Amino acid sequence: MAEKKIIAVVGATGAQGSGLVRAILNDPTGGFAVRAITRNVNSDKAKVLAKLGAEVVAADIDDVESLKRAFRGAYGAYCVTFFWEHFSPEKELAHAKNMAEAAKATGLKHVIWSTLEDTRKFVPLNDNRMPTLMGTYKVPHLDAKGEANSYFANLGVPTTNLLTSFYWDNFITFGMGPQRSQDGTLEITFPMGDKRLAGIVAEDIGKCAYAIFKAGNKYIGQTVGIAGEHLTGTQIAQAFSRVLGQTVRYNAVEPEVYRNLGFQGAEDLGNMFQFKRDFEEQYLGARDIGFTRSLNPRVQTLETWLSANKARIPQTLTPVRT
Ligand SMILES: NC(=O)c1ccc[n+]([C@@H]2O[C@H](COP(=O)([O-])OP(=O)(O)OC[C@H]3O[C@@H](n4cnc5c(N)ncnc54)[C@H](OP(=O)(O)O)[C@@H]3O)[C@@H](O)[C@H]2O)c1
Repeated sequence: MAEKKIIAVVGATGAQGSGLVRAILNDPTGGFAVRAITRNVNSDKAKVLAKLGAEVVAADIDDVESLKRAFRGAYGAYCVTFFWEHFSPEKELAHAKNMAEAAKATGLKHVIWSTLEDTRKFVPLNDNRMPTLMGTYKVPHLDAKGEANSYFANLGVPTTNLLTSFYWDNFITFGMGPQRSQDGTLEITFPMGDKRLAGIVAEDIGKCAYAIFKAGNKYIGQTVGIAGEHLTGTQIAQAFSRVLGQTVRYNAVEPEVYRNLGFQGAEDLGNMFQFKRDFEEQYLGARDIGFTRSLNPRVQTLETWLSANKARIPQTLTPVRT
């Protein structure tokens, strides 16, 4: 039997990476093996992956030499950065550069770079519809990822740029869940008016990424986008209402209100939602649901996923935060 192609997965213990690790492990005859990258091979999450059958190795995306060691001998790598760990677009750029350089140095045949739009191509810095943040960004955690696409391209790394979507998981794990309003009704709050949000369950990103690796050269050199559904705030609230058996309302605040909610990252997320609202057509157009299903026919809907995770849905009195 031919030797298995190794996929090195950055962020293997995290939301995107763990979905890919499990997708590979769940397909033992698929021709791929997985190398899970973590900063701490002794963490509980890392041990779980090892027990499931993953090779687990240590590397830090701050350290290009550690990445080279982790990528050596692999066929491909899944590359992702972690904005919410440090809130620094410059760090994301440096980390992406390290991954691109390590991929080049180790001769990887296929990298999937988990990216998002550089919103400055849509909203130039001098466009005052939204404030410029951190000096040179409109949506720092999107812009840096989009800017970093060129690192992989300029080095000639065979890359698929994967445009991910808002995780539906944010409604449980990122502080965006239903909050009880003054009148006692549950509501979810974000600033997109009646526009649709592209969303996906985080673990489905990994399943789509695996399909992209399995497709061989088909998507190399391309930018592809994925989403499980495109839903309005009202549709999202309706899904919550059905799952919780009580009314959940969509509280469509203005972006300016969201930017001023006071938690770390509120301005960035306010601008992000405004970008998705103002460029709905382009944003959704880049994330075709049919294409996503062609990669992962069992991509979950928000409602299916909420039903399966009902016990974890917060219904708190605290203000919206991430
Ligand atoms: N939330 C959303 O809706 C959404 C949507 C699209 C894109 N994104 C983007 O997704 C990215 C985060 O991906 P995720 O959600 O999969 O991450 P995550 O669940 O927060 O997981 C982060 C993992 O990355 C590892 N990690 C952190 N810093 C590292 C470093 N310096 N070197 C090596 N590994 C490191 C950690 O593993 P160890 O502790 O084991 O080392 C951790 O388990 C962010 O940049 C965010 O902007 C988020």
